[in-house]
Amino acid sequence: MTDRAGEVELHVVSPDEWETHRALRLEMLLDSPDAFWTTHAEAAAMDEAQWRERIVGTFHVMATLDGEPVGSVGLWPGREPDPDETNLIAMYVAPRARGQRVGERLVTAVQDAAVREGRRRIHLEVTSSNAPAIRLYERMGFVFTGASSPHPRRAELEERAMVWTALGYRSGDGRAKVAP
Ligand SMILES: CC(C)(COP(=O)(O)OP(=O)(O)OC[C@H]1O[C@@H](n2cnc3c(N)ncnc32)[C@H](O)[C@@H]1OP(=O)(O)O)[C@@H](O)C(=O)NCCC(=O)NCCS
Repeated sequence: MTDRAGEVELHVVSPDEWETHRALRLEMLLDSPDAFWTTHAEAAAMDEAQWRERIVGTFHVMATLDGEPVGSVGLWPGREPDPDETNLIAMYVAPRARGQRVGERLVTAVQDAAVREGRRRIHLEVTSSNAPAIRLYERMGFVFTGASSPHPRRAELEERAMVWTALGYRSGDGRAKVAP
C-alpha cells in the first residue's frame, strides 16, 4: 500500500524491513517512554527473529517524509483475539514531523485496514497525560470507554481505554471532521 500527499508516504512494513522498523521503535521508546508499555531496554534486547515475528504478527504502517522514516502505527489482534475487535498500538510521529497531520494519516490507514479485515471496533490505551495523542484520537472518532488501568511505571498516571466503532465509517471521516 502506498498513500501519497506531498512528500509523506505510507507503506505496510514487511519483515525484511525489520532493521528500519527497529530503529523507529527504539527512537519512539527513547522519545516518549511514558507513552508505551514496552521499555527501550526490552526492545533493544530483541534479536532479528523476534523483530520479524512481531512484524508478521502485527499489521504495521510506516510513514516516510522524503524517504526518511518519521512515523508508524500498528494493528494488533491481541492476546485473546476477538474477531470483531483489533488494537491500535505503537503510534508514533517523530518530533520533526509532528503537527502536520501525519498522525491522522496513520490512524486513517489502520481504520481502513480494520474495516477491510471486517473488524467492528479498534481499541487503544492512551496515557492520561498525553494530550496531543488524546486530541488526535478524539478527532479521528475514538471515544473513552471509561475503563482505565494503572500506568506500568508511573503511579501518578493511568492508561485510559478508547474505542472506535467502524459502523458507518467512510475512509477519511476523521480527517473530514477537521474542516469547519
Ligand atoms: C501523538 C502523536 C502521534 C501525534 O502525531 P502528529 O502527526 O503530530 O498528529 P497531528 O498532526 O494530527 O496532531 C496532533 C495534535 O498534537 C499537536 N502537536 C503535537 N506535537 C506537536 C508539535 N511538535 N508541533 C505542532 N503540533 C503538535 C497538534 O497541533 C495536534 O493538536 P490539535 O488537534 O490541537 O491541532 C505524536 O505527537 C507522537 O508521536 N507523540 C509521541 C508518542 C505518542 O504519544 N504516541 C501515542 C501513544 S498512545
